[in-house]
Amino acid sequence: MRELSSRTAAFTDSVIRRMTRISNQHGAINLSQGFPDFDPPKEITDRLAEAAGKGPHQYAITWGAQNFREALAKKQEHFSGMKVDPDQEIVVTCGSTEAMMAAMMSVTNPGDQVAIFSPFYENYGADTILCGAQPIYIPLNPPAFSFDPNVLEDAFRKGAKALVLCNPSNPCGKVFTREELEVIAEIVIRYDGWVITDEVYEHIVYAPHRHVYMATLPGMRERTILCSSLSKTYSITGWRLGYVIAVPEVIDRVKKVHDFLTVGAAAPLMEAAVAGLKFGDDYYEGLQAHYSHMKELFTGGLREIGLTFTEPQGAYYVLVDIGEFGYASDLEFCEELARTVGVGAVPGSSFFKEDVNHLIRFHFAKKDETLKAALERLAQIGKMKR
Ligand SMILES: Cc1ncc(COP(=O)(O)O)c(C=O)c1O
Repeated sequence: MRELSSRTAAFTDSVIRRMTRISNQHGAINLSQGFPDFDPPKEITDRLAEAAGKGPHQYAITWGAQNFREALAKKQEHFSGMKVDPDQEIVVTCGSTEAMMAAMMSVTNPGDQVAIFSPFYENYGADTILCGAQPIYIPLNPPAFSFDPNVLEDAFRKGAKALVLCNPSNPCGKVFTREELEVIAEIVIRYDGWVITDEVYEHIVYAPHRHVYMATLPGMRERTILCSSLSKTYSITGWRLGYVIAVPEVIDRVKKVHDFLTVGAAAPLMEAAVAGLKFGDDYYEGLQAHYSHMKELFTGGLREIGLTFTEPQGAYYVLVDIGEFGYASDLEFCEELARTVGVGAVPGSSFFKEDVNHLIRFHFAKKDETLKAALERLAQIGKMKR
């Protein structure tokens, strides 16, 4: 066969999608791929039905429909205190996935280094490779997932141009404290770097933890490229609506990259989602309460079964320690779990650069009955011990 690109030759199939296939094959309850099995808010889907009739059906402005950007700027100011210019400081993208890619392409040159906390969301390494950049991994050490500022500083000393910051974090559920963000900011400012944030779980944080936007720290507005999306906040992962917020000089570049990557997000979906961006505080309080409930239900069940895990501070994942089960490979454990217990999980090693294979990840963005059924099955997990 004629040669394909060497840059993408090392890409593997997503482990998460592989676990989804295995779960389906064995009729397992799939707690691997992180998306809700409950409906989005009706106000949003009603607006979508209207938009299906009335439009818009043609391309919106490439960097996002005006009413969407205006509603987003207001929401962002409400939750973070940041003033955001809807015309010059926002690009609406196809999910945070495109936002991160456009941000990284806007910042890096081939050969540049990008610091990434490990464990990480699987796209970040691929994003750097697509940019021709090199990832440098900074360990978040389990079980507390704390980092050593000296290791982070070392990455910048060696030339890292940017840091990718997933906060709240998938997969470890860490919510960075203001003090931790200040430590990061101090290093980034000293080495004149960038921070590309992924804040898709900004509204899924468990008390007493609180989400702090990196861009709001002194000196960080102009060096933070904030990426987020509507996927998790409004339970619309399939709509592919995300955005980048940054200062005008950065956004000017992101607009051009985005134009060539995708032209724009889907016009009727933007139109419908404006209803969500205009929701009052009660919606976000309800969302927090709903996720807190699911977290308590699921982690409470895990505790009763006797499993060891790190309590998530945010997002909707939990990493369970399977060290005591006596498996050399977490992938083998997950395949066996799907086959014999009937629950799908993701091997933790797919999120770590370090040699970590004693953790598996479940997600709990599921209806009560789904979580209860999964816990009932997990009660049998003891039979997997070797
Ligand atoms: C940390 C993180 N970032 C980004 C995404 C994807 O976001 P989007 O649907 O906005 O592309 C996910 C989805 O699971 C995620 O966990």
